[in-house]
Amino acid sequence: MESLQDKVAIVTGGSRGIGLAIARALVRDGAHVVITARGAGALAEARRDLDGAGPGRVETLGADVTRAGDMARTVAAAAERFGGLDILITNAGVGAFAEVEAMTPEQWSTVIDTNLTGVFNACRAAIPAMRRRGGGFIVNISSLAGANAFKGGAAYCASKAGLNAFSEALMQELRYDGIRVSYVMPGSVATGFAGHSAAPGGAGSRDDDWKIAPDEVAEVVIHLLKHPRRSLPSRVELRPSKPRR
Ligand SMILES: NC(=O)c1ccc[n+]([C@@H]2O[C@H](COP(=O)([O-])OP(=O)(O)OC[C@H]3O[C@@H](n4cnc5c(N)ncnc54)[C@H](OP(=O)(O)O)[C@@H]3O)[C@@H](O)[C@H]2O)c1
Repeated sequence: MESLQDKVAIVTGGSRGIGLAIARALVRDGAHVVITARGAGALAEARRDLDGAGPGRVETLGADVTRAGDMARTVAAAAERFGGLDILITNAGVGAFAEVEAMTPEQWSTVIDTNLTGVFNACRAAIPAMRRRGGGFIVNISSLAGANAFKGGAAYCASKAGLNAFSEALMQELRYDGIRVSYVMPGSVATGFAGHSAAPGGAGSRDDDWKIAPDEVAEVVIHLLKHPRRSLPSRVELRPSKPRR
């Protein structure tokens, strides 16, 4: 098993939900983590949560994955603060759910720009830094929606199906350079994603008991990162054990 002690990681969208859970697990295992998001308030709150969560150190950065320059700045911050980059978790993502006829071009662009182009921006910025370290690991957070399309999910499902194809192409580009690429496809996770309320009846409530916990996605990511180098679990599907009937 690979140790994560003193590895340097970036988690995009690390201020809440799945990204925050992944950052917490990395810090617990001794990795130094840069988390990014757009909202300053949630980033500050995440920092308080992560400080003292483990031996790893934490940096927060306001950065938008849809802007290539912000991702270059994030990789530079990891190098400046922690000396390089070993791990990239592309987790930032948004959902807009409407049938195509009712969906605005702006909604479509926001979903594709964040979930697909945002991952391209982050990977493109990270790869040279990983090459300088002699290798690395990229984990893209996709969704079961990338394999199982549903009515009202055209933009989201297309973005995640695109992300799956992107991940597989990138995996083949980088495998001989010691940079490993995997993608994780969770089903429903108990977070505030896409306006899901954190109030009673929303994320964290008993109504959410059947959903995957964010910490369980983090557990899968940590297992991937620690997987022996000789083989690569390149795609993981993670389902609620007993989805609501
Ligand atoms: N929840 C689910 O049921 C589920 C299931 C399968 C897959 N996923 C995937 O898991 C990932 C995380 O979802 P989640 O449920 O944890 O969502 P969440 O609770 O809404 O958190 C999303 C995170 O991404 C950040 N973010 C959004 N747009 C961004 C942008 N343009 N640039 C930088 N950061 C951005 C958010 O912060 P700011 O808004 O402040 O930027 C926040 O930190 C997404 O890719 C999602 O598609 C979720």
